[in-house]
Amino acid sequence: MVVGRRAWQRLGRLGARGYSSIFILTERPLWRRWGTAFRKDAGLKNARALFVPSGEQSKSLAVVGRMAELLLAAHADRRSLLVAFGGGVVGDLGGFLASTYMRGIDLAQAPTTVVAQVDSAIGGKTGVNVGAMKNLVGTFYPPRLVVSDPIVLTSLRPRAFRSGLYEVVKHAFLAGGHLLQILEDQIESLTAKNAASLGPILVAAARVKVEVVKRDEKEARLRWVLNLGHTFGHALEEATDYRRFTHGEAVGWGLLAVLRLANRLGVLAKSEEARMAELVRRVGPLPTIADLSARRIVALLPQDKKSVGGRIHWVIPERVGKVRIMDNVPMKLAAEAFRDVQTGFAP
Ligand SMILES: NC(=O)c1ccc[n+]([C@@H]2O[C@H](COP(=O)([O-])OP(=O)(O)OC[C@H]3O[C@@H](n4cnc5c(N)ncnc54)[C@H](O)[C@@H]3O)[C@@H](O)[C@H]2O)c1
Ligand SMILES: [Zn+2]
Repeated sequence: MVVGRRAWQRLGRLGARGYSSIFILTERPLWRRWGTAFRKDAGLKNARALFVPSGEQSKSLAVVGRMAELLLAAHADRRSLLVAFGGGVVGDLGGFLASTYMRGIDLAQAPTTVVAQVDSAIGGKTGVNVGAMKNLVGTFYPPRLVVSDPIVLTSLRPRAFRSGLYEVVKHAFLAGGHLLQILEDQIESLTAKNAASLGPILVAAARVKVEVVKRDEKEARLRWVLNLGHTFGHALEEATDYRRFTHGEAVGWGLLAVLRLANRLGVLAKSEEARMAELVRRVGPLPTIADLSARRIVALLPQDKKSVGGRIHWVIPERVGKVRIMDNVPMKLAAEAFRDVQTGFAP
């Protein structure tokens, strides 16, 4: 993985592998803004761009089929390279396409959102949605290379940029130490244009994911820790039909709720909860949750589909830098924790 200004240039080295052709999967507005710079830095003058519409709807088997047909028509073969240039949607879709087209062609990721740079482009999980089920069909398929240049983040809308910061905060809670420290020092001043402070933070946040994935490539227990804040988060997204919150914002609320839950469980000290909750709140304002029914949210908590009885594996923070997995959390406590956050409980 290469993170930093001009990271795209490292794609040039992949060229030495002698690909028969190179394709770039991306979105039209993104490509209009950054395509020329990307082609130039990456040295991909002859690569052909393939476009998918922006948005989660593109993560579908239908789009995979369409893209595979385009690849075939353009004579892509087993020795072709696919570069996914976009956010988590293009990355997950491109990864799935590359892993299945002619039983697998090489893949490189050039992530263009905060979420993608610190999370989704790392770890080799690919997938598309089927029906209402997110990521129902997918593969593990590590890319040859991940190149993240923070310059692309300057065109993100402020809300999208801030949404990614909740995932950065999540990684800081998992890691503790320096990453948490610099976020606590600088969270308000973090903008995409402030590259000097943002650069090291992105590197550190991406490294948290790399470390977790390295030790647990195929998602046994360790990788679960990355779901911190996501149990409540997913329920919130679902309860609002994926309309009210960005994913990161739902994770922001999810973090606040699970901190509350951890305290109610007697696992997380009050002072530690207060410290962590404050950082989440400092990222910025979140869309309201006041009108949501706690009972409904608890009913929507995602259960582990791979385990008998569909238990919920909670990632419960014990302190900064340490979480534990618990599958015996009383639903009543979960509902109470959510209600606390709804009513503005301050630890
Ligand atoms: N594979 C994994 O491990 C993993 C992990 C986390 C999330 N995900 C997936 O990632 C997806 C969410 O990723 P996301 O938040 O990047 O969403 P996204 O890809 O939809 O991007 C968010 C929005 O930003 C736009 N955009 C992208 N780059 C831009 C740029 N540089 N400037 C301006 N606009 C830009 C996109 O068009 C889109 O409208 C979800 O589908 C989720 O399931 C996967
Ligand atoms: Zn997430």
